[in-house]
This record gives sequence, structure tokens and C-alpha cells, in this order.
Amino acid sequence: MKKILIIGSCGQIGTELVLNLRAKHGDDNVYAADLHQTCPEKLSGGPYVQMDILKKEAVRDFIISEKISEVYLLAALLSATAENNPGFAWQLNMEGLFTILDLAKEGYLSKIFWPSSIAVFGPTTPKHNTPQLTVMEPSTVYGISKQAGERWCAYYHEKYGVDVRSIRYPGLISYTSLPGGGTTDYAVDIFYQAKLGNEFSCFLTENTALPMMYMEDAIRATLELMNAPKDCVKVRSSYNLSGCSFTPTEIAAEIQKHIPDFKMTCAPDFRQKIAETWPSSIDDSVARSDWGWKEKYNLEMLVKTMLEKVDLTLLSKS
Ligand code: NAD
Ligand code: SER
Repeated sequence: MKKILIIGSCGQIGTELVLNLRAKHGDDNVYAADLHQTCPEKLSGGPYVQMDILKKEAVRDFIISEKISEVYLLAALLSATAENNPGFAWQLNMEGLFTILDLAKEGYLSKIFWPSSIAVFGPTTPKHNTPQLTVMEPSTVYGISKQAGERWCAYYHEKYGVDVRSIRYPGLISYTSLPGGGTTDYAVDIFYQAKLGNEFSCFLTENTALPMMYMEDAIRATLELMNAPKDCVKVRSSYNLSGCSFTPTEIAAEIQKHIPDFKMTCAPDFRQKIAETWPSSIDDSVARSDWGWKEKYNLEMLVKTMLEKVDLTLLSKS
């Protein structure tokens, strides 16, 4: 059995990815790794290792000695957090990627997954139905790091044959763990406030449309891309991927169908400026034709599922 390592496993995506990979490959073959000293309860069914991706030698030693063959590298600062600490965001988002790409170049890893983001696009990108190949002038440190990362992934594939695969995730919506400092986080926070019976104050304006996706679709896309035959994966920078796009007004209206008294007000902060530079919808036809991607969740299904599943006790644990 191959051994898989997920770095940044305690975050919004990692928590669900570890559980899905363990169900598929066996608990003992999927290692979760993160900064935290102790393993969160949800990931305790398999091996956990405390790891700082910036400690290059320790990461190399672990991967080589444990004979890891696939890495999912999720550790990063997201868009909003990164704007508050640009130098560190650049260091974290880039150095870890080189450590993993180099291990693959040297033959220690056979496959890598590294996520990119809709943040690679910028104010000069066509906003609606943004194509796979288009103008890309990101104006956030997060977007710049993701765009540079995409170019390095394509370079390592082209020059050294590294099998690296990537998706430009939209804003991801999930209930298993809380989001980690992004511009799309409002679309998760809104469910907690709705279920608590509180009025929700949104940090974006009512009509700011952004591409979003329910986590189950995002995990399925990740696994489908990683399982696709090598020859089908023609894009080695990162694939556009679309779930559903909506504005704060639209998601609030959908929630009101279930909780008629729910109210939202808008008090835009610095994240509004970030959101304004991103696409409002994404053309993912290349992912569809290369490896058969198709989303399942629309806004209606996403809202219904989130309202059923959101666990308010997560708020007190965070
Ligand atoms: P998150 O912030 O929820 O989780 C990141 C995890 O990385 C955290 O558990 C954190 O402790 C860990 N981490 C931070 N620094 C580390 C270090 N030095 N060494 C090891 N671990 C470290 O993020 P997420 O939402 O799960 O995102 C994962 C990846 O997906 C990121 O690269 C992000 O840019 C990308 N992405 C996420 C979204 C989204 O909406 N969640 C959208 C697009 C792209
Ligand atoms: N959800 C992410 C963010 O807002 C997009 O990469 O940062």
C-alpha cells in the first residue's frame, strides 16, 4: 500500500481530506501532519505527526524515512490573514512548496497535490465565467504566492517530470471544521449565526458575487484529479473549478427559506477590496473535458445540508 502524507491536515480542507483518504487507503497508510502538538480527536483514527513545513530538514527526514510516496500540501496563510502578514505569508506559501517539489524531483515522491485558488486572478481578469487561460494580475500577497506556485508546479513538471496536480479552489463551505482566515469565510460563518438565531453581520457588500463550492464536491474533485491517468492531466499549473456562485443577499435569501426570521446586515471591511478583485464565476470546461469534473451541489442543496449539519459546539472548541 502507498503511504500518503497530508501537511496542514487540521484545517478546513485537511480534516475532511484525511478522513476520505483513510476510508479509501486504510487508516494506517494516511499520515496527518500539522503544527499542533496533539492530534485533534477527529483525526485520531490514524497516524498523526507534529510538523512545521518550514523545518525543511525534519520534513525531508520524515518523508524519506517513512517512505511516503504522495503528499497533499495544504499548509498556507489564506487571503485575509496573509494581507496582515505579507512577508511571512510569502515565506510559508512558497518555501514549503519547494521542499515538496524538490523531494519529488529527487525521486522520493511519486505524486503531489498542491491547491491553488481563485485568488490567482486579479482586477484585470474577465470577471464573469473566467476562463482557464486569461489575464492574471493578482493584487494580494496570497494571490501572488498562488500564481507563483502554479508557475513553479508547471516548471517542475515540464523540466523534471514531477507529477504535481492542482485545483484553483473557489471559496469552500463545510461544517467539519471552521475556516482559516479567507475572504470567503463569511459564507461559512453565516450558518452558525443563523442557527444561533442571531443577526449576521457580513464583511462583504450584499451584491458581491464570488465562486463557492460545498466541501464534499471539493474533496471529490481532489480525489478524482489525483486518480486521473497521468496523460489526462494536461494542465500542470492548476485547474479552474466551479461549484456555484452567489452573493451575500442570495445565500441569506436561501437561508430565510428555512429560517424565515433570519436577518443579515452588511458592514464591509478590508476583505471587500480583496473580493472585488476576484472573479464572480468560473469557466471550468477544461477540468470537465480533461478528467470529467462535474459538481453536484447547487446553492439550494448547499444551504439545506449546511443547516442540517452545522454543529454549534465547534464554536466553543475553536
Ligand atoms: P486552513 O487555514 O483551514 O488550514 C491550514 C492548516 O495548515 C492549519 O491547520 C494550520 O495549522 C496548518 N499550518 C499552518 N502553518 C503550517 C506550517 N508551518 N506547517 C504545517 N502546518 C501548518 O486552510 P484550508 O482552508 O484548509 O486551506 C488549505 C489549502 O487550500 C491552502 O493552501 C489554501 O490556500 C487552499 N485553498 C483553500 C480555500 C478555502 O476556501 N478553504 C480556497 C482556495 C484554496
Ligand atoms: N477561500 C480562500 C480565501 O478566501 C480562497 O482561496 O482566501
